[in-house]
Amino acid sequence: MAANIYVTRRIPQAGLDQLHAACGEFDMNPDDRVLSHAALIEAVRGREGVLCLLTDTVDEAVLAAAGPRCRVFANFAVGFDNIDVAAATRRGILVTNTPGVLTETTADLAWALLFAVARRTVEGDRHFRSGHWDGWAPMQFLGHDVYGSTLGVVGAGRIGTAVALRSVGFRTRVLYANPEPNAELDAIGGRRVSLDELLRESDFVTLHVPLDDSTRHLIGAHELALMKPTACLINTARGPIVDEAALVVALRDGQISGAGLDVYENEPAPAPGLTALDNVVCLPHLGSATLATRSRMAVMAADNLIAALHGERPPNVVNPEALDARA
Ligand code: DGY
Repeated sequence: MAANIYVTRRIPQAGLDQLHAACGEFDMNPDDRVLSHAALIEAVRGREGVLCLLTDTVDEAVLAAAGPRCRVFANFAVGFDNIDVAAATRRGILVTNTPGVLTETTADLAWALLFAVARRTVEGDRHFRSGHWDGWAPMQFLGHDVYGSTLGVVGAGRIGTAVALRSVGFRTRVLYANPEPNAELDAIGGRRVSLDELLRESDFVTLHVPLDDSTRHLIGAHELALMKPTACLINTARGPIVDEAALVVALRDGQISGAGLDVYENEPAPAPGLTALDNVVCLPHLGSATLATRSRMAVMAADNLIAALHGERPPNVVNPEALDARA
């Protein structure tokens, strides 16, 4: 099948091989960097399928440029808040994502951040490398115990559940805030509570909700003020779920003890003042960043794109109703 496909940035080879086997030649952004919005519009013009990334803003202008022959935007991410799904649906363009394959890898990273913040490992590493360490000291870099603490999981979907299940070995008490009960979490003694109760009670609050209008700034000044002064906030979901300016104030004023962030409100830029703080660990959006997981995501995104071009329902379509708009 020869199709007019565009890949907005290099992804792991396994996905490119899959596309090549099914569709022959295709075009790809030759540079390993995000396309500007104007360049994205030009690159997708007249394409039948686009494999895009969470760093591509796929809005009305991009979808219009892709035009009536376009069947699919296959996102290389589980989150798809970068795409105007409603606009895609109106145009009969399918949107797909990559759920499941990155769950465990992202859950691992949430715990890596939690430990880094709780036990001040990044601060310690910086201090050691600075050459100023003059030996063990009783009051140096005192952190918080993870074992036996209370973990608050906001959003008990795939990743939130995987994070919570890892807590068993650390004997943490699990609280979770979710619209529905979660049987797996209930089975390990997890308790479903309101967001306010979770914020008041937890030693570690970890965010696992998708970004949409209902979760933008879910954690703002009011919510941060509910947290214990000894508590830490972990965000591996999406930056705009947290009001980052309010977080800087809360961290600076000691309203909460620390934060571990993998995502930011205006990526790649941090909020003013964030990186000057010692009680925050900042990672560059690494949640799914292992070769194995990124390769699985690449294959899944390619499979979704190929299915759509075959006129089939892609396995991970987020707007199946676009098929009706096309019929
Ligand atoms: C996603 O998939 O949404 C992550 O943020 C990146 O892998």
